[in-house]
Amino acid sequence: MTDPRPTLYISRLLPDPVMAIVRERFQLVQEPLDALPAPSALREGLCQADAAIVTLGDRIDAEAIHAATRLKILANYAVGYNNIDLMAARQRGLIVTNTPDVLTDATADLTWALLLATARRVVEGDSLVRSGHWTGWSPIQLLGAEVSGKTLGIIGMGRIGQAVAQRAVGFRMPVRYHSRQPIATSSLPREWEYRSLQELLSEADVVTIHVPLTPTTHHLIGERELSWMRPTAFLINTARGPIIDEGALVDALETGVIAGAGLDVYEQEPAMHSGLAQLKQVVLLPHLGSATLHARVQMGLVCVNNIHAVLEGRPAPNQIP
Ligand code: DGY
Repeated sequence: MTDPRPTLYISRLLPDPVMAIVRERFQLVQEPLDALPAPSALREGLCQADAAIVTLGDRIDAEAIHAATRLKILANYAVGYNNIDLMAARQRGLIVTNTPDVLTDATADLTWALLLATARRVVEGDSLVRSGHWTGWSPIQLLGAEVSGKTLGIIGMGRIGQAVAQRAVGFRMPVRYHSRQPIATSSLPREWEYRSLQELLSEADVVTIHVPLTPTTHHLIGERELSWMRPTAFLINTARGPIIDEGALVDALETGVIAGAGLDVYEQEPAMHSGLAQLKQVVLLPHLGSATLHARVQMGLVCVNNIHAVLEGRPAPNQIP
């Protein structure tokens, strides 16, 4: 008897609770590995499936989209979808979905972890203790920057930007934000004030980025923008690497244009611009924004819900227009 379950391609191994559900509900094209598939394997997998779950490292170009004639939905296991040629998907009538909301808290929390770790030199402290060279408390050891009461500048006031801003209350940090246009004051707390990009960069003690990667935001922060920042300021990025010109950032850090940076994302992941890893005033994480078990399971469930909706002829709850 033929298997009545729809065929699903998953490009990467997802957390166990998600894998248990997809193995039960779908015929898998193949068991996924915990590694990026080669582009040819990705294209082949997409061609064999009714639905696919792909991740942010999978580049889905027009060629792959047009070749996958059987595919009805591409469920991107991420909120960002810069890895997919949306125009080609629209032309071909392929539905693309993402996973908003369920990773907002995880990403906002990690932004604060990175912000505090960078300002308070947490990684340097950890290395010192582990090295066996720590000789005990000193009044002048690893002095960091005070965060409480300082001005927080947020670029991008979507869901994650707002969640980061809400967490600033406990640190008594005035919030300034920049987005494409000021958001109606009725939908944001009055204390969160809009600034132009230049004003925000010149005013903030900590700048954190929460815009999607688009042609407009590519290298939004380059040499000129870094020069607008204070020499005592920190730059945090948990959004997408190419929003910052990484070479210009390394120069700015090496020459003291800004004080430090906390990065979770890179221009050419997993590679980094040369010189970055040598800088002590930088904290580097391996793209952990949504990396809690809770968020990663919820992201999988959102993908599965969207797939069921499309295969059953209903509107996908998280369709990217
Ligand atoms: C996203 O969802 O875009 C995140 O970067 C994944 O961790």
